[in-house]
Amino acid sequence: MCGIVGYVGRKKACGVLIEGLKRLEYRGYDSAGICVQYDGSLAMEKCPGRIVGLEQRIASSQPIHAGRVGIAHTRWATHGEPSERNAHPHTDGSDRIALVHNGIIENYVTIKKYLEDKGHVFKSETDSEVLAHLVGEFYDDGGGPLEAAVQAALAEVSGTYGIAVICADEPGKIVAARKGSPLIIGVGKDEYVIASDASAIIEHTANVVYLSDNEMAVITTEGCRTTTLDNVPVSKEIEQVEWSLEQIAKNGYADFMLKEIFEQPEVVRTSLRGRLDLRDMRVTLGGLANVARQLVSTHKLILTACGTAWHAGLVGEYLFESLARIPTEVEYASEFRYRNPIVEEGTVVMAISQSGETADTLAALREAKEKGALALGIVNAVGSTIARESDSGVYLHAGPEIGVASTKAFTCQLVVETLMALMLGRRRFMSQTEMEGYLRALAQIPDQISTVLEQSDYIREIALRHVERENWLFLGRGYNYPVALEGALKLKEISYIHAEGLPAAEMKHGPIALIHDGMPVVFVAPRCPTYDKIISNIEEVRARKGRVIAVATEGDEHIRRYADDVVYVPACPPPLQPMLTVIPLQLLAYHAAVARGCNVDKPRNLAKSVTVE
Ligand code: G6P
Repeated sequence: MCGIVGYVGRKKACGVLIEGLKRLEYRGYDSAGICVQYDGSLAMEKCPGRIVGLEQRIASSQPIHAGRVGIAHTRWATHGEPSERNAHPHTDGSDRIALVHNGIIENYVTIKKYLEDKGHVFKSETDSEVLAHLVGEFYDDGGGPLEAAVQAALAEVSGTYGIAVICADEPGKIVAARKGSPLIIGVGKDEYVIASDASAIIEHTANVVYLSDNEMAVITTEGCRTTTLDNVPVSKEIEQVEWSLEQIAKNGYADFMLKEIFEQPEVVRTSLRGRLDLRDMRVTLGGLANVARQLVSTHKLILTACGTAWHAGLVGEYLFESLARIPTEVEYASEFRYRNPIVEEGTVVMAISQSGETADTLAALREAKEKGALALGIVNAVGSTIARESDSGVYLHAGPEIGVASTKAFTCQLVVETLMALMLGRRRFMSQTEMEGYLRALAQIPDQISTVLEQSDYIREIALRHVERENWLFLGRGYNYPVALEGALKLKEISYIHAEGLPAAEMKHGPIALIHDGMPVVFVAPRCPTYDKIISNIEEVRARKGRVIAVATEGDEHIRRYADDVVYVPACPPPLQPMLTVIPLQLLAYHAAVARGCNVDKPRNLAKSVTVE
């Protein structure tokens, strides 16, 4: 989704801004722009398409290369097509104020009408330009300072925003504000880098200030002053970003997605570290220590999330119900937040999110808190909004995930859910012997993932055999039913092949009509209590001449009789299987997408972090 970068300092702003935009490319965008203060005016350039295009445009602009304060933006179209005039920054009527905006101004039509009646003429179709004009209107009325005009404008606005604003008449200053869309201020030596995502900052400093909702900052070379939008001073702590530059580089891999798939043994190990204790045979989750009692005695758990994280939630439903015997529901965050859900006393709501910024998941978390639930977060991005607004939670420790299609965050979400389910299970009904069996098996998972990754070339051959097919099915049962959904999602989002995931038995109730000569059907079929049933489902597909790709347990020769291709994963208890069975499906999607010439890190129309509703 849209990205913001701003710079105030002694360096030439342009280099920092363009570099920052490149770091944010992974979020998904369709146009970009930059605006720099120079010699009492604003120098601006924007264009549709890639950031390299913007670089070419500004190559000969002396003012853009000379200024030391500026703002820049990558846009992901919501209001109006990707084009030069709809790209940010947007200016007010006098072209003296420029603004970049993430989020959506919901009442922009009313404000636009009000401003048009006062003579304002708009160049774009965006809601963001309306906000720029509104700031300009208040600036003209009050004569500054810029922060007062921004405050006055935001008081009239409903919706969500992260904004950075500069004014030609107030050199050396950026005003930033947020409500519902993240903004982080990197605090360097005599310089500040403002961004919507830490990855644009870490090259410059690890010291950051996270703006909270309804807060703003006035940033100059002399310092950074933070207040509420009502101008009440707020003192903010400087926090540390743990991510390093190396973690956000490709390190020799062709794509971030491939790198992140191959990082999984290591990140799962990190996610288990200090939590899985094989000496005392127990699980310690420090982030939940203060709510453990409430969690153990809960009578209902609701997991809420979007996309891949929702699939992790579905696995969680099986884990929490079977290992901890806690009644569990999984809800799309977008549905949970709007349907006035019944949240009885004692209910625990857990939001699962890689970015910690997904608009619907955040809103669902807030809805849960509003209704009195204990609200937990399973989040990857440290310091993100969901992490900060949850009552308690557990970090994934997967490191930055840049590839739009989530991979390592998914496996770490499974790790955290498994640890939680075991911890709760042990305190409720599980025997120590059973617990020890699971813990030993869990400790094997990183090495077992490595074994699966070794088959990447073989999985590539399978992908190449079927890559021309435009429709695929993914089927699984029990713990592996959500894995089938995730396999289908991975394939469709990066290769644009249509794929559907289903519980294997549901195939008979409709989708079997699709199966015909040569259609690829992926069965996630490791050894488990429903193994025989899934073999019957495989037979049903073969009878209709579907091509069967099976993910099976090492040593299962029997399945070879039924499947055209078999990828083996090491044996482990069924609750842990998704951490292994998902790996071949990630690789299958990856290799299919590469074979079809798709850009796996930047799939069309998709965004890494969906901060609009
Ligand atoms: C986007 C991404 C998905 C991700 C989903 C939820 O749609 O493209 O990969 O699963 O958002 O994101 P979150 O950051 O909340 O896990």
